[in-house]
Amino acid sequence: MSSHSDALALVADDMQRVDLKMQATGDIFAPLSGAINLLLDSGGKRLRPALAILTSKLYEAADHEEVVALAAAVEMLHSATLVHDDVIDGSLLRRGQATLNASWSQGATILAGDFVFARAAYFAAETNNIRVMKIFSQTLMTIVEGELRQLYALRNWSQPKDTYYQRIYGKTAALFAAATEAAAVLGHAPENEISLLRDYGYNVGMAFQIMDDILDFVGDPGKVGKPVGGDLRQGTVTLPVFHYLQLHPEALQIMQASGNGRDGSLLSQLISDIARSPAIDATRREAVQFIETAKACLASWPPGQHRQALLDLADYVVVRSL
Ligand code: IPE
Ligand code: IPE
Ligand code: MG
Ligand code: MG
Repeated sequence: MSSHSDALALVADDMQRVDLKMQATGDIFAPLSGAINLLLDSGGKRLRPALAILTSKLYEAADHEEVVALAAAVEMLHSATLVHDDVIDGSLLRRGQATLNASWSQGATILAGDFVFARAAYFAAETNNIRVMKIFSQTLMTIVEGELRQLYALRNWSQPKDTYYQRIYGKTAALFAAATEAAAVLGHAPENEISLLRDYGYNVGMAFQIMDDILDFVGDPGKVGKPVGGDLRQGTVTLPVFHYLQLHPEALQIMQASGNGRDGSLLSQLISDIARSPAIDATRREAVQFIETAKACLASWPPGQHRQALLDLADYVVVRSL
């Protein structure tokens, strides 16, 4: 068994409780509960709630029910962002299954996403912790801002690289940071430890999105369960593109021409050129760097199985293929 699955096995019981909590929609409009359960049953790696639970286990003072509520809140918030993200990206496949927007209208899909957001907020309130609720609300604002920043930066081929890090913090790393920070808060951790654990989550999240952006170029569509190659085609400039442009400044012209919708085939060629170029390795090295920083945040904790699991999950993020 890989150390990644060892790490997840440590929290399997709690994760089952998180899933039961998320599935218990009660007596709501049947198409809505059907949509939510389809979303939950389709899998998903459940990485964020696992990180929240593992972090809480560094503290005996963490209340079990509150931690399960936090983990459910985090995963529900993540699920809601996916529902909306697939509408925005016009994506028809997620977790190997048809997305809600593949069969529902955009309006109805957005409303279903809103429902899932509200459910996430309800779970966050079930932690009975105002600070956690504030972290949760702030994170949702940051995610929305990140997605909007991405929309506004579409097809801006010569944007500075800094904007990329700002966007992926917003759309992805903020939620990882919130998951581990809020878990530490529920554990009544001292402030310096809350801050280190937040930093751990932040760095894992940054690496996670960088790897997702690599997988969009080199991933096996059968494995990742969602369409690949779409980022560049839709005009989203990700880290592999920045690295490729450094090696091949002339590629800028191809991108600019594609911006007018004239050169789809040139763009397809460019996507496969990037996938086979050293830009991918250069990008992966940046992800590894974030993971090294994440692991360093845990350096002051004594050795133990939960700390080890957090280190192992960090390592998994940069070798994952789905
Ligand atoms: C997908 O997240 C969205 C990103 C932030 C890249 P995951 O890859 O964690 O999605 P699931 O939950 O496992 O499907
Ligand atoms: C994740 O970014 C954005 C969210 C926070 C939902 P992506 O657009 O890269 O996610 P995927 O690739 O569709 O999962
Ligand atoms: Mg997307
Ligand atoms: Mg992606």
